[in-house]
Amino acid sequence: MTQREKWGTKLGIIMAVAGSAVGLGNFLRFPVQAAQNGGGAFMIPYFISFLLLGIPLMWIEWAIGRHGGLFGHGSAPFIFTRLSKNRLMKYLGVIGIFGPLVIFVYYTYIESWLLGYAFFALTGKLLSLTTAESMKGFLSAYQGLAPQSNVWTAYVFFLITFAINFLVIFKGIKGGIEKLCNIAMPLLFAFAVIIAIRVLTLGPSILDGLGFLWNPNFAVLADAKVWMAAAGQIFFTLSVGIGAILTYASYLSHGDDIVLSGATAASTNEFAEVILGGSIVIPAAFAFLGVAGAQAAAASGSFNLGFVTMPFIFGQIPFGQIFSFLWFSLLFLAGITSSVSLMEPAVAFVRDEFNLDRKTAVKRLLVITFILCQFPIFFLGQGVVDELDFWGGTFCLVLFATIEVVLFVWVFGMDRAWEEMHRGAELNIPRFYKFIMKYVTPLFLFFILGFWFIQQAWPTILMKGVSDAGKPYVIATRIGLVLLFLGIAYFVRKAWYYKKSLGEVE
Ligand code: PHE
Repeated sequence: MTQREKWGTKLGIIMAVAGSAVGLGNFLRFPVQAAQNGGGAFMIPYFISFLLLGIPLMWIEWAIGRHGGLFGHGSAPFIFTRLSKNRLMKYLGVIGIFGPLVIFVYYTYIESWLLGYAFFALTGKLLSLTTAESMKGFLSAYQGLAPQSNVWTAYVFFLITFAINFLVIFKGIKGGIEKLCNIAMPLLFAFAVIIAIRVLTLGPSILDGLGFLWNPNFAVLADAKVWMAAAGQIFFTLSVGIGAILTYASYLSHGDDIVLSGATAASTNEFAEVILGGSIVIPAAFAFLGVAGAQAAAASGSFNLGFVTMPFIFGQIPFGQIFSFLWFSLLFLAGITSSVSLMEPAVAFVRDEFNLDRKTAVKRLLVITFILCQFPIFFLGQGVVDELDFWGGTFCLVLFATIEVVLFVWVFGMDRAWEEMHRGAELNIPRFYKFIMKYVTPLFLFFILGFWFIQQAWPTILMKGVSDAGKPYVIATRIGLVLLFLGIAYFVRKAWYYKKSLGEVE
């Protein structure tokens, strides 16, 4: 067993977990989800999901991760074998490497657009586009989707983004990720506050914009889809149910606090999401485009709001160039502190289970990841990103969360789990959470899983709504994903025999 890395400070890991949590999901995904799912009424299932799923999973992941770290394991496959005697558990743990990797592959590409756009904001290029139409045209040309356009400019920004990500990962937990988050997090909060204040002072119509987002439409609460959207958003935004936080927590020490630190990271994320994320894109769209415009913008999705509507609006106010730059920089910083956390489970796996040093592990993964990243870049127009987002960013989250909860609370056992969470804790979790974690969280998850399978997963599996031209690409992507999963499972098996030959596992 090689000596494992550790976080430098207590604040460091809170910043890193908050960094993972605060991402594009907070500023782009959340407002659109809320606007499309009942506005203010969305906050009811959202907060219920936060209390019954998000917070328990946050604590559970910190506890499982720290527990695994004590045995020298930082990724789900081998951590799971410390929670259950069943050797097949390690294959369920494959999801905890596969899911984050799949998200990383498309997330990093989108993150690179933000770097590109921050650059274009600075050079005044965005300012020269004065209509929403030309802004839209610019985006599709940048993505290489417009006729006679190509993807090479975007590719250069991708290479830079990819390089920065790997540089940080290469430098390790304390010297790379922790350092990055300690700088990027305060900076991105400052930028977000400046932008939120600017948006909220755009004029009297902004109040109507807030009203548009927050006025509750309670009728939607009867719709299971709204509940699933809320639960899905909670998982995605908190980065739980995928394996990323698990790995971060494996770098904690035996008696480090989990309860307060986990709750702090989660609350930081909620502040960034509800208060800041809720005050920017939708109210701004409303103030400039009116009800119909804001509705259309929300319906057109997160990318349109972020890359078309926002720079278009900033183009019409004084110092718009600066606000545009702050907006894209904020999103880029939010993105990079998330993407490095998505790579870490794979790094921890290769490093811990093949007894390699970090640099060797990272170099090997760099090659594989770089190859995988080519697909969303060159097949964006064929729906590859949507496909990866569905399997990695939605399906795996709910599935893996369910596995984690059942494994920790039922197989490992609630009493041991409770004790494990409280070791070194400065505060106690309210006792009724024992009941919630044991019954409510798993039942809620099974419910969502069941409903969601019928309503969303099944039509998606059958490729409902995919054009005939798109089907071959969707099928190819799925075959690729299955192969990736099997590839990781193969390495997990290999690592198992390796560890066995060393006598480190029985
Ligand atoms: N939480 C990140 C966001 O809100 C996304 C993410 C999901 C990061 C899962 C890591 C793991 O954008």
